[in-house]
Amino acid sequence: MKLNIAVLPGDGIGPEIVAQALDVTKAVCAKFGHELTYKEAIVGACAIDKVGNPYPDETHELCMQSDAVLFGAIGDPRFDNNPSAKVRPEQGLLAMRKKLGLFANIRPVTTFPSLIEKSPLRAELVDGADFMCIRELTGGMYFGRPQGRSEDGNTAYDTCVYSREEIERILHLAYKYAGQRRKKVTVVDKANVLATSRLWREVAQEVQKQYPDIETEYMFVDNAAMRLIQWPKSFDVMVTENMFGDILTDEASVITGSLGMLPSASVGIHTSVFEPIHGSYPQATGKDIANPLATILSAALMLEYAFGLMEEGKAIRDAVNASMDAHVVTEDIAKGGKAYKTSEVGKWIVDYIKK
Ligand SMILES: NC(=O)c1ccc[n+]([C@@H]2O[C@H](COP(=O)([O-])OP(=O)(O)OC[C@H]3O[C@@H](n4cnc5c(N)ncnc54)[C@H](O)[C@@H]3O)[C@@H](O)[C@H]2O)c1
Repeated sequence: MKLNIAVLPGDGIGPEIVAQALDVTKAVCAKFGHELTYKEAIVGACAIDKVGNPYPDETHELCMQSDAVLFGAIGDPRFDNNPSAKVRPEQGLLAMRKKLGLFANIRPVTTFPSLIEKSPLRAELVDGADFMCIRELTGGMYFGRPQGRSEDGNTAYDTCVYSREEIERILHLAYKYAGQRRKKVTVVDKANVLATSRLWREVAQEVQKQYPDIETEYMFVDNAAMRLIQWPKSFDVMVTENMFGDILTDEASVITGSLGMLPSASVGIHTSVFEPIHGSYPQATGKDIANPLATILSAALMLEYAFGLMEEGKAIRDAVNASMDAHVVTEDIAKGGKAYKTSEVGKWIVDYIKK
């Protein structure tokens, strides 16, 4: 099979972790006889520095022409510490999501046996947790207009907007995945307060009727935040709007013990993007210490979701599990044992796949 991917390393640790994921992808493709071609492009703070635009047109063109995008992370403290900067790296991410029509972010949350004791929750609560968070990506508060400040600068406002169509398409996606899993969808909203949430619930109650074999549960976002830490095993597929999803998926991610472990897929109308859920971890930039596993597992998701290469994805997952069993891990999950470098972990996984 021919795989044509765009590689967007981004900022901070992005280039280091993407390099490992790319090497692993090359190794798997070589092993299974696939032809991998790829091109790199800039995004985020590095793109602002080079061309003044965090998502340049050339980068977008490349993404559109590719079968999938492997993405690192964006973000730089120079911008984080300057709230008045007009052009910001995050705008690149938002523009990419909008232009590629990426309306859903999918995060599988699973626990890793050797990491259970790194979880902030008691082992019996998390052991065996296995669910999927589906976050709406292109609507809601982050895109709603008007947004801004009053003339005197002392009042600020954001607008939350959702259309029936935006809600319907993501709910169908949630039911599709639930059908392949344990057949339960939890719709998270704040329908007791927000008009957009009331529309979500209204639409969900209609869509639910088309999937009679799947259980539907409705939950207010504050309750969902509690339930995630009290009883994470109760979830199968959770679906929610953009801002609630932003917050809940980060909460869900720490349950597994390390932010450096979780991959994600953003799917929609055009090319899908595969990226770790963490950010650019600026403190670790250039130190070769960041955990590359979330990005390597994102490459596994890419092979499965974008190309239907299930065996190849599993080969990566097996190699990642083997590296953890062999304690060849970075400092964030080394548990006081030897901490390996980012590049050493990547190389170990490549060698394992080649074996
Ligand atoms: N999708 C994205 O590109 C994305 C997502 C979130 C944040 N950001 C940006 O990243 C920058 C830093 O944000 P932040 O510090 O809030 O989040 P972050 O995810 O970069 O880091 C938070 C903490 O998580 C841990 N961590 C994250 N990735 C890790 C890895 N690969 N290995 C080991 N530990 C890891 C570190 O302890 C780190 O201090 C900001 O500029 C932010 O805007 C980008």
